[in-house]
Amino acid sequence: MDQITFHVPNHYVDMVELAKARDIDPNKFLIGIGQEKMAVPTIEEDIVAMAANAANRIVTEEDKELIDQVIFATESGFDFSKSAATYIHQMLGIQPFAKAYEVKHACYGGTAALISAFNYVKLNPERKVLVIMSDISRYGLNSGGEATQGAGAIAMLVTANPRILALDSETLSLTDNQFDFWRPSYAEVPYVQGKYSTELYIEMFNTIIEEYAKRYPESLSELQAISFHLPFTKMGRKCLQSLENKEETNLDSELVERWFSHYEDSTFIGRQVGNVYTGSLYLSLISLLNFDENLEEGQRIGMFSYGSGAVAELFTGVLQPGFKDHISKEGTLLHLNRREKLDISAYEENFEQTLSNEDGVIEVVKDKETLHPGFYLDRIDDHRRYYNEITTK
Ligand code: CAA
Repeated sequence: MDQITFHVPNHYVDMVELAKARDIDPNKFLIGIGQEKMAVPTIEEDIVAMAANAANRIVTEEDKELIDQVIFATESGFDFSKSAATYIHQMLGIQPFAKAYEVKHACYGGTAALISAFNYVKLNPERKVLVIMSDISRYGLNSGGEATQGAGAIAMLVTANPRILALDSETLSLTDNQFDFWRPSYAEVPYVQGKYSTELYIEMFNTIIEEYAKRYPESLSELQAISFHLPFTKMGRKCLQSLENKEETNLDSELVERWFSHYEDSTFIGRQVGNVYTGSLYLSLISLLNFDENLEEGQRIGMFSYGSGAVAELFTGVLQPGFKDHISKEGTLLHLNRREKLDISAYEENFEQTLSNEDGVIEVVKDKETLHPGFYLDRIDDHRRYYNEITTK
């Protein structure tokens, strides 16, 4: 992982206001699930626009000639055939002899893309892969999952000599065909067994940790911290607590304590954004790298990826010399603090806005004066999406 960054929409909802509007004790959202703000995309901020805004921040002119693949992970795709990656290939001006494609397995898709990129650059050490994750998490107004919505994109450049994190080849995955969260092609929002999904997540985390401890005991004992896929920020804490509460375990309690001591810093961005599905694990990673002052070069960190349905993977990487020069806490804070708050009625009105699927030309944005700088979905012309960019305000 040579470069990594994120992009979140220009608006958010305050979780205390949402709780009050739903007649719920705000502490359920703030403490019970661990969310303070929820990112809200407006209609022109689709998965491609968010992804292009993230990728544009890390891809240099030189990179554009060296990138051989653009892999786009999402579970919010708007087309069953044409991939979202082709738009990014064009918008960023990547060299033509690259391949661009989309991957899917719920929130695990981003990790599948990353591991595939890792394997490619191992075989082609002079070349680079652009990995993108972009999603809009929608459960519906007044739904059980409403407080765990969000939106955002992650972009990362994967190279053979990374400046941030060198991934290890030892990884462990687990598949279990279950229905905890799924969205058939005809459904606008997912079907979700909320409680069961959290139980399955914890169960799969425990199964992987136990097996990993058997297969790679030294690697596990070296892990300084673990970043989790965070659909809401309490989720990783629940996993670590489950290890603490285990009656029979081979795990050293000091190890779990160590992972706990780094956990809070990995949740800072997620608390302000909500669930971004494929990118959520990587928001936690960026958060850990930005806010944990105790992380040092040479330390090994773990990443736990979970995608409903269900696939999980634990993989690890070593922090590279000078990694702190390639992450920006100030940039993260500026990006989060640039956002404008929507009150609950504006959020509800925005939620109901949908793109028309009529023939002909649809101008997506009525008043371009209101737009923030960056890429946005401009118009749909005979079912073809076209994007534009505002470079100055
Ligand atoms: N003060 C403090 N805490 C409070 C509280 C209060 N006043 N009121 C409630 N709480 C606590 C509860 O005790 C509970 O804590 P624990 O989980 O530690 O027991 C927590 O707040 C949540 O309360 P409930 O379980 O009653 O909440 P809920 O019924 O509204 O469901 C949810 C929560 C299951 C996360 C629901 O929002 C949901 O279904 N979300 C979507 C599914 C999801 O995110 N699943 C995660 C695993 S699946 C996955 O990871 C893939 C993915 O991205 C979707």
